Amino acid sequence: MSSIRLSDSLRERIAGPGPILALTGAGVSAESGLATFRGPEGLWEGRDPMELATPEAFAQDPVDVWRFYAWRRRMALQAKPNPAHLALAAMEAARDDFLLVTQNVDGLHERAGSRRVLRLHGSLWWLRCVAEDAENEDLREDLGELPPRCECGAMLRPGVVWFGESLPHEAIETASRAAHEARLVLVAGTSSLVYPAAGLPGIASASGAYVVEINPERTPLSALADERLEGPAGEILPLLAEAAGVAS
Ligand code: OAD
Repeated sequence: MSSIRLSDSLRERIAGPGPILALTGAGVSAESGLATFRGPEGLWEGRDPMELATPEAFAQDPVDVWRFYAWRRRMALQAKPNPAHLALAAMEAARDDFLLVTQNVDGLHERAGSRRVLRLHGSLWWLRCVAEDAENEDLREDLGELPPRCECGAMLRPGVVWFGESLPHEAIETASRAAHEARLVLVAGTSSLVYPAAGLPGIASASGAYVVEINPERTPLSALADERLEGPAGEILPLLAEAAGVAS
């Protein structure tokens, strides 16, 4: 039995009309067995993000960078969506004014059934030729010898956003607009440290939205949030879906 209690104010808002924006980070996949980035068992513990998640690192040692991403692809493939992903998919299915914005690249939201997913940091399943100015290609198969190569002979790179790179223009524009318009914002499983994603709840709050943080730990967002639900997303988001009147 959960000890989490939702306020009446939040119950009214989640069941009421008006756009809802959900922003997720690595913490929503933690209960699927995928490591978050920061913290004692995080992916960046004992690894330097500057040596694995920057264009410079890829230029210097593409095989090493690719080993990291190929391993994460295998982990993500073995993982299954958890109740947090399922609850968000159920809320989306129940209303057409629900938008999910994610920093996650693992594809678990889509596998849980979410259809309108704005990916700010790309996808582990996308690959892009370093030589051609082409779209990302969606490739789930084993990559074979690393680095994988394009038909033109040049290397393919992971279709994720690295430190020092810009976010896809359209995705961040749409997310910012949705933040302005949102009436309720659910921020789940993110340390709220990496911008511009971390700035979205502030935009929403300044435009009058009610901001709820779902996280077992405090973050820089905690002071701004109207309500904090302290605990695992896999426990709390199903409670929110239930309060919204949808089964997940
Ligand atoms: P972080 O690893 O920075 O933060 C994960 C957050 O999830 C922390 O605040 C945890 O307290 C919280 N958390 C852990 N378990 C949870 C659970 N079961 N339920 C809810 N919350 C939980 O991950 P992100 O905020 O996603 O970017 O990181 C943002 C970006 O930084 C990533 O997209 C990645 C990273 O470097 C790039 O690689 C460019």
